[in-house]
Amino acid sequence: MPLSYDRRSIWLHWITAVLVIALWCAGQTIDWFPKGTPRVAMRSLHICFGVTLGLILGYRIWWRIGRGSHLPPTGTGAIQALATLVHFALYAVLAATLLLGVANAWVRGDTLFNLFTLPQFDPGNKALRTQVEDLHSLSANILLILAGLHAAASLAHHFILKDNVLRRMLPSRR
Ligand code: HEM
Ligand code: HEM
Repeated sequence: MPLSYDRRSIWLHWITAVLVIALWCAGQTIDWFPKGTPRVAMRSLHICFGVTLGLILGYRIWWRIGRGSHLPPTGTGAIQALATLVHFALYAVLAATLLLGVANAWVRGDTLFNLFTLPQFDPGNKALRTQVEDLHSLSANILLILAGLHAAASLAHHFILKDNVLRRMLPSRR
């Protein structure tokens, strides 16, 4: 039985983590940019990186179900059940945030770098627009909180329990 995840699973995990944090920070700061080209550019980058993360997530799930490492559980009982539940929740909330992001761009009829404009879904329906914006924001915040708890748990494994849980998700120095 291998002692750590395969290289591809490890890189997919860390690219996902970096993109989630970068997208959350970008989402929070879009409105700090002056109206017009700078704000459109920032929003377009957010949308492009978001779609890229969607493709990475699809590939990651395909890899995970198929040839990716299937390691034995690191704990037992309720703690292990909680860890598995959090992993499922991370996949589910990430997928929901990505889908709500696409829905957000669609109901807003956003432009990408002023080069291409998405046809707006139900123009004039301000209530729907606010609802989708709020849901995307809520889902992104839940994702960040879950990821924070998950990261804290893995750091506790490493520094307090001093076991192998974090190390098996880190690139080996071999
Ligand atoms: C937004 C950020 C993150 C997301 C979305 C995320 C998501 C996930 C998911 C879904 C898994 C389960 C993998 C599987 O078995 O299919 C996982 C595993 C893992 N993650 Fe994260 N993660 C994030 C950030 C972090 C951070 C910051 C750390 C460490 C400080 C971390 C450490 C780990 C470790 C050690 C595992 C393996 C756990 C085990 O083997 O049981 N993750 N992560
Ligand atoms: C995990 C992935 C993502 C995260 C963490 C994320 C996070 C955020 C956050 C925090 C906001 C600000 C919400 C607010 O306070 O009003 C936001 C706004 C937005 N997001 Fe995302 N997002 C993600 C993916 C996507 C995707 C895939 C798209 C589109 C394809 C997208 C499109 C948008 C749009 C159009 C806005 C509104 C920008 C504005 O108010 O000017 N997001 N996102």
